[in-house]
Amino acid sequence: MTQDIWSAVDAYFEAHLLPPDAALSAALTASAEAGLPPHAVAANQGCFLHILARALGARRILEIGALGGYSTIWLARALPADGLLVSLEADGGRARLARANVVRVGLGEVVDIRVGAALDSLPRLAEEGTGPFDLVFIDADKPNNPAYLSWALRLARVGGLIVGDNVVRDGKVTDAASEDANVRGVRGFISALGTEKRLISTALQTVGAKGHDGFTLSFVLGG
Ligand code: DHB
Ligand code: MG
Repeated sequence: MTQDIWSAVDAYFEAHLLPPDAALSAALTASAEAGLPPHAVAANQGCFLHILARALGARRILEIGALGGYSTIWLARALPADGLLVSLEADGGRARLARANVVRVGLGEVVDIRVGAALDSLPRLAEEGTGPFDLVFIDADKPNNPAYLSWALRLARVGGLIVGDNVVRDGKVTDAASEDANVRGVRGFISALGTEKRLISTALQTVGAKGHDGFTLSFVLGG
């Protein structure tokens, strides 16, 4: 019952606020057909990320975890024509699918999907000097979230934002004794955010088509 209400409200908001978008729908359909888990962000969360990127005037965005490229499209659409979104994806098949979805929308020029473990790609980005990034969206394997946060701090600009997806996990995040590697990764991430002096961090719960979950939002301070 509760999930039905959450999904109905998401559908209501989507119907009124988010115009039908064939390209985004095609990305979701292709992802489902390829057997990807339904872990893309909800449409209203995708639009929220898009608005954050626009409000920042983002020119460079880093996404850790492309999956099928759905959030990639929302974020990349916020960039100017000479902007850049780098998205890191460990799985070659997913990276190819994400690439195809991004190219179909005409965003091939601004999106660079890099295949490989993010913990291998992130040091390379630092060496190359591809950043600093205005916005970092962490949405990959949760056990590595604390390590991804360290890299995000190295690669984000002062005044930029770091967003971490899926930090509630149906409330399991409150279980200090959890042996679930995802929960432990998220708890390590929240703990690191809480002690990190270079960030102002908060976390918000969400309910909707994707169940009960949430995300963190951190502002990168100077110094
Ligand atoms: C999971 C991962 C995600 O990125 C998401 O949005 C939902 C669930 C997961 O690993 O369970
Ligand atoms: Mg996610």
